[in-house]
Amino acid sequence: MRRKFVAGNWKMNGSLAGNEALLAAVAAGAASVSQVECAVCVPFPYLAQAQKVLAGSTVGLGAQTLSEHAQGAYTGEVSASMIKDFGCRYVIVGHSERRALYGESNAAVAAKFVAALNAGLIPLLCVGETLEEREAGVTGKVVTEQLDAAIQAAGVAAFSKAVIAYEPVWAIGTGRTASPAQAQEVHALIRARVAESDASVAAGVQILYGGSMKPNNAAELMGQPDIDGGLIGGAALVADDFLAIVRAGA
Ligand code: 13P
Repeated sequence: MRRKFVAGNWKMNGSLAGNEALLAAVAAGAASVSQVECAVCVPFPYLAQAQKVLAGSTVGLGAQTLSEHAQGAYTGEVSASMIKDFGCRYVIVGHSERRALYGESNAAVAAKFVAALNAGLIPLLCVGETLEEREAGVTGKVVTEQLDAAIQAAGVAAFSKAVIAYEPVWAIGTGRTASPAQAQEVHALIRARVAESDASVAAGVQILYGGSMKPNNAAELMGQPDIDGGLIGGAALVADDFLAIVRAGA
């Protein structure tokens, strides 16, 4: 049985002064919902703070991207082992904002996926189509290509130590959520694609939905057979909202 997993993606938000209360509230609230896996992915400069505040809690820590390289002359980059140094268990790879704004190709995302696994981090691989692609009827093709790049680079067995997040780009930060049926359709397609390579890995891999998941729609989305949780943007910045989503997964 797959466990539900709710992860917050803070994106480029937060401050040293403000984070403490948010992290402490999430840690306190999540403690009573132990059946749901819970994590927050914070900006790099706040990893040390988050590690400290979340110590001993049930809330896992993650970063939002990483370098595909292990170390060396890559000014401004952050390696998987550095992220591990701060007690992280997770790292997001291939978020649509990285793909669109920083030119990360499927191949680059796959290389980061491999780098995360090599360091013992659990990558949260984001896939998803733009509105244009959905309207052109190529959602399945786009998502399959994004997924295949990671399967080819890391092998399907890697997905027993990885998480997939389906995030339709048109639903991110727009308040326009995919309907439960729309999301379920793509989640089922993703699981079927993994199953073509390995049915037991497919049965076990957690596939999260991301894109305007809020307290008022989380239960219905997570009630779908192939939706195993959420990757939460805006609502992860408000402790009560984030915790309401975590509870909706119980
Ligand atoms: P929102 O929840 O703000 O739509 O963001 C979703 C997301 O991009 C999570 O990675």
